[in-house]
Amino acid sequence: MNTLQLLSFGGALPQNKVTNNDLAKIVETSDEWIKSRTGIAERRFCAEGETASGLAIRAAAQALERSGLQAEDMDCCLCATLSGEWAAPSTACLVQRALGLRENIPVMDVNAACSGFLYGLAAAKGLLEQTGGKYALVVGCEQLSRLLDMTDRTTCILFGDGAGAAVVSLGENGPFALTLGARGGDAIRVEGPGVQPTAIRMDGPAVFRFAVEAMPRCIREVLEKSGESMDMVDWFVCHQANERIIDLSIKKLGADPAKFYKNLSHTGNTSAASVPLALNELWESGAMKPGQTLVCVGFGAGLTWAGMLLQYRPLAAQTEGNA
Ligand code: COA
Repeated sequence: MNTLQLLSFGGALPQNKVTNNDLAKIVETSDEWIKSRTGIAERRFCAEGETASGLAIRAAAQALERSGLQAEDMDCCLCATLSGEWAAPSTACLVQRALGLRENIPVMDVNAACSGFLYGLAAAKGLLEQTGGKYALVVGCEQLSRLLDMTDRTTCILFGDGAGAAVVSLGENGPFALTLGARGGDAIRVEGPGVQPTAIRMDGPAVFRFAVEAMPRCIREVLEKSGESMDMVDWFVCHQANERIIDLSIKKLGADPAKFYKNLSHTGNTSAASVPLALNELWESGAMKPGQTLVCVGFGAGLTWAGMLLQYRPLAAQTEGNA
């Protein structure tokens, strides 16, 4: 069976920092309330002229450059987003054009909300297998700030903008497992374009209950499918929605908290960009080493969920045969 391996990462955040105190000037809230209920201290919002696709292109270019491969080596390009500025052409097609990727490859967007990047990796694996390809560029990007109702304090404090990307490769060995699912329902919904003004609406407590059930379940499922134990996993990179959701999941699993990477304090919830942005920051910190095993988890609107267990095997390490 083929596996999917992570080769390289990229990320992009807009310039404009929005702190909790900035939001407290707009809605009735406080830095203390937001930090204690979510773990979020600040997030980035696109400024005039910044877009989801612009962030996607920056993140994708960085991941491609760091992979050691060329644009013409990419056999597939997918972008997970629910807030790309155009419905068509897809954000993935905008990335393809900007990076000069080949024409005879599959290029499309995936919308599975906050699980989108992992759905995108799974779809990329299937497309590579069907087309005889090897390398895929997968991006997650969002400009959620343009969808927020800035009078609704229950949602506007949670979300941010950003993009993350990874170059992945089909592989023949190493651990790999995948779980994907969905349960149609509107506990979180992004209204529009049929409903104006477009806004993110959410039953926060219902989503919280769903998340603390889905996250440990996804982790258990990929461990069971791969035959790996919790101890064999070096890093857990979960959707960065709320620190309490991650902490409660760790407690339910009896897992080592030091293995759960968190960056939501300065990004907020960036939906499809959340997992690849966290992967990129973990890599940039120098803590992710070639040959390490990761479990990534996403959950969100749909309701959708996704878990993936895979290895970080950059090309340089594969050539040296030490990973
Ligand atoms: N500032 C101050 N008070 C706020 C507030 C804010 N930003 N948002 C809500 N409140 C108030 C509520 O109005 C409520 O007041 P009341 O008791 O007088 O009615 C009180 O705080 C508690 O509200 P509740 O919704 O029960 O809070 P909570 O502890 O569940 O936290 C969330 C709210 C949104 C932080 C939490 O439910 C959550 O994180 N849910 C998951 C959301 C998520 O991650 N979604 C994306 C998944 S992809």
